[in-house]
Amino acid sequence: MAPEPLLRVRGVSKSFRGARGGRVDAVLDASLEVGRGEILVLAGESGSGKSTLARLVLGAEEPDSGTIEFGGRAVARGGGGVAGVRRRCSMVQQDPYDSLNPRMAVGESVAEPLEAHGVGGRAARRRRALECIAAVGLEPAGDIAARLPHELSGGQRQRVAIARALSTGPDMIVADEPVSMLDVSVRAGVLAVMARLRSERGVAILYITHDLATARHFGDTLALMYRGRVVERGPVARVLASPRHPYTRMLLGALPSPAWRPRAAPPSAGAPGPGGGCAFRPLCAHATPECARVPGLARRGGDWDVACFAPLGG
Ligand SMILES: Nc1ncnc2c1ncn2[C@@H]1O[C@H](COP(=O)(O)OP(=O)(O)OP(=O)(O)O)[C@@H](O)[C@H]1O
Ligand SMILES: [Mg+2]
Repeated sequence: MAPEPLLRVRGVSKSFRGARGGRVDAVLDASLEVGRGEILVLAGESGSGKSTLARLVLGAEEPDSGTIEFGGRAVARGGGGVAGVRRRCSMVQQDPYDSLNPRMAVGESVAEPLEAHGVGGRAARRRRALECIAAVGLEPAGDIAARLPHELSGGQRQRVAIARALSTGPDMIVADEPVSMLDVSVRAGVLAVMARLRSERGVAILYITHDLATARHFGDTLALMYRGRVVERGPVARVLASPRHPYTRMLLGALPSPAWRPRAAPPSAGAPGPGGGCAFRPLCAHATPECARVPGLARRGGDWDVACFAPLGG
């Protein structure tokens, strides 16, 4: 029997009030799993629902429907599950300044989640903070800990944010575009830090990115979102080598350079395609009358899941 996944998201939907009174379906019937120590890459164009799904996993938003379980316990706002998740699943944001107090020595910012969870005394928290700062490759840790965020480089600051996320000893780190604001020359080093946390400490990582070229080397599994739905989900290298969903194929065909960036958000991101059914139907060269219904994410004769009635290469 397969081991119980660390994170299990099943049929989750979340809509928001839109600009002109309508609803925006940010996440639609999305399902995914992350195993212990697994790196899942969540990709998709701007507005496809990646950050909303991450916020749902962290308990910062409540789903309209569907279930989210972390370590076998339901994650729900106000349901008592969230406090447990906060400690066992932490967040690294795109901009490290979002999690670091600009007027606080970074060592204190790293220790702060421990204080919030009432873990250890002051001296033990300080030791743990220094250990986490060293674990993300910042040395000497004592010297770094005494600095203010602006006294560090961008790459160092993001490493400190990772150290902070690590302080409570989480089972999973959710990293929403953690290197996209950094200088290209330091991105690989920051990703290598996270890869090491996985290999040495077994921390699972939900890594949100637009950069599929990097994802290939960093991730185990790829989940691709299109307009709120997960449309393809499988081993990252194999999916990128022979995508089954026509949307994935289109993205890869459009790869202009190793560092692929998506197109701008379509004007109706999140909305279903004209006439309902598969949201990709209006752009799909392989659409059939069957596509007037929404295809669920399923194996469909291949080695991984795809939400398409006529997947490629199947
Ligand atoms: N709090 C909110 N209120 C209203 N609409 C929202 C809210 N949060 C997200 N949305 C909408 O939900 C959709 C999905 O947004 P989300 O931020 O999850 O996308 P994303 O895939 O993370 O995009 P990006 O790559 O640009 O970060 C978008 O249409 C967005 O405008
Ligand atoms: Mg986002």
